[in-house]
Amino acid sequence: MEKKITVLPGDGIGPEVVAAAVRVLKVIGKRYNHDFQLGYAAIGGAAIDQFNNPLPDETIAMCEQSDAVLLGAVGGPKWDNNPAELRPELGLLKIRKTFDLFANLRPVKAFPSLLDSSPLKREVAENVDLMIVRELTGGIYFGEKKRDNEEASDLNIYTRREIERIVENAFELARLRRGKLCSVDKANVLETSRLWRQIVEEKKELYPDVVVEHNLVDSVAMKLITNPGHYDVVVTDNMFGDILSDEASVITGSLGVLPSASIRSDSFGLYEPVHGSAPEIAGQGIANPAATILSVAMMLQYSFGMKEEAAEIERAVNTVFEDGYFTADLVKDGGRALTTDEFTDKVIAEIDTSF
Ligand code: NAI
Ligand code: MG
Repeated sequence: MEKKITVLPGDGIGPEVVAAAVRVLKVIGKRYNHDFQLGYAAIGGAAIDQFNNPLPDETIAMCEQSDAVLLGAVGGPKWDNNPAELRPELGLLKIRKTFDLFANLRPVKAFPSLLDSSPLKREVAENVDLMIVRELTGGIYFGEKKRDNEEASDLNIYTRREIERIVENAFELARLRRGKLCSVDKANVLETSRLWRQIVEEKKELYPDVVVEHNLVDSVAMKLITNPGHYDVVVTDNMFGDILSDEASVITGSLGVLPSASIRSDSFGLYEPVHGSAPEIAGQGIANPAATILSVAMMLQYSFGMKEEAAEIERAVNTVFEDGYFTADLVKDGGRALTTDEFTDKVIAEIDTSF
């Protein structure tokens, strides 16, 4: 298959982890006979430095011509005092909005060899394999805002269509996984949640193979910590999803291994690690590339339908961990930390048996 991918390395460790993931992508292309055509463009602080714009038109144009986008991370102290319109994060918000990437997917899966880093007991964290599906382009973050000295308000607004499309997405994902969907809301107090719940109930008829439960967000916040193994797909609105996805990200104890996808109803998607630009370790070649490598696996699966290739990357990363190889953020007492490149070499050696 021929696929065009726009690569946005970004700032801090972004370029390092993206370079590692691109090496893995190329090996997959060779092994499975795919023609991955890569084009590089600027976003975030790097784009501000070069074009005085966190998301230049050239970058948007290149993404428009692509089947998918791979992003590193944006931001860093260098730009922290910039005016609002010249902030690196604005590049991220704009790219999500421009391409209408309304569904943010964050899988959280336990790697048995990393569970020592989890704040949860091993027996609680070891069976975790869940996916948070967060609505990303609507709700209270985008509603009308008002503030004076005495009063402030943020409007939480969702249209039927906005809810339908994210809910459909979540049902489709649940169907491909273990067939369980937990819809999270605050229907005891919020009207947006009552409409959300009603639409989930309507859609349920179309997915008789998916088991649905409704749960209140405060209750899910507890259960994610006490019984995370219960969940398969969790779908929720923008704000609840923001909070729950950060909570879920600590379950397995390793920020450096969490991938994410931002997708819409067609196959186009943006793939990036959950972590940020980690400026304090940038340029040292020690960042953990696993989250970005696993983001490439998500791209192969969700944008290109390459399930086998995606599974091969996941298997390779898992095997490298099982063999006891870790970067500095995860290395165990007395072990030697691999550099970004050394870790990537190990993953590639697992995939390409001709090495
Ligand atoms: P961060 O995720 O960059 O770092 C948090 C901690 O985890 C740090 O100790 C860092 O060294 C470590 N870490 C993160 N990724 C790692 C990796 N791959 N390998 C090894 N260690 C890793 O979050 P932080 O420190 O809050 O933010 C740093 C900058 O990143 C800020 O400018 C922030 O705005 C930006 N950021 C960007 C995001 C994005 O581009 N999507 C998301 C989160 C933060
Ligand atoms: Mg957040």
